[in-house]
Amino acid sequence: MNIDKSSVVPIYYQLKMVIQERIKSGQYAVGMCLPSEREFCEEYGISRMTVRQAISDLVKEGLLYRERGKGTYVASPKIEQGLTKLTSFTEDMLNRNVKPGVRLVELKQIKADEHLEKILQVEPGTLLHELSRVRLADDEPMAIERVYVPVHFYPALSAEQVAHGSLYEVLRKEAHLTIHEAVQSIEATLAGPHEAELLNIKPKSAVMLMKRITQNANGEIFEYAESIYRGDRYIFKTKLYANTP
Ligand code: GLP
Repeated sequence: MNIDKSSVVPIYYQLKMVIQERIKSGQYAVGMCLPSEREFCEEYGISRMTVRQAISDLVKEGLLYRERGKGTYVASPKIEQGLTKLTSFTEDMLNRNVKPGVRLVELKQIKADEHLEKILQVEPGTLLHELSRVRLADDEPMAIERVYVPVHFYPALSAEQVAHGSLYEVLRKEAHLTIHEAVQSIEATLAGPHEAELLNIKPKSAVMLMKRITQNANGEIFEYAESIYRGDRYIFKTKLYANTP
């Protein structure tokens, strides 16, 4: 792919396409340091400003990342997540040959407050497991999850069971729950300082807050989860069908 200076397509945009193409073809592999701004200027006879604009756009889009004082590198591709299947984080990772991981932040029991009572449809003061974990993909932090499960569904839930593996697997195997359906919403938000630290991103980075209310086969709500996903590493994708006449 070349740059056509007489084209109506802005030069910075053409350079973006060139770099994207090279990433796609593997010429610029994941983790590789990009040529310097000067090298791009010389290769295409274009200005530094133009090169900078192309590169900053690709950084914003998550295809590249900068390391202060070192250079610009090719980022791992974003994780594409479907929105129609009720799957666990572990299943999502295994389905794409990525190693799932967990960093346990805390497992404790709390009494449901008014907000959680309403969501989980439980009596005032019902005991809940509150489980907070950082979820990893190939050892890289991807999401922070805070999950509430009414204790009566599985009183024996322990830190050892969820510190390394899947909560859904424990609930299926040990609590004999049939994980049946969920209502899920996604909203945009910004990472707070604590979340940014856990996710290894800059404070105020764009993240996605996902809320899930999950039912078993008897229609009982056994889970309310709030997950914060890295905006630079995730794409949520869904298929749409038009009304057929
Ligand atoms: C997803 C959901 C959570 C759910 C979790 C279970 O990430 N957002 O609601 O608790 O999966 O994942 P795992 O079984 O891997 O612990």
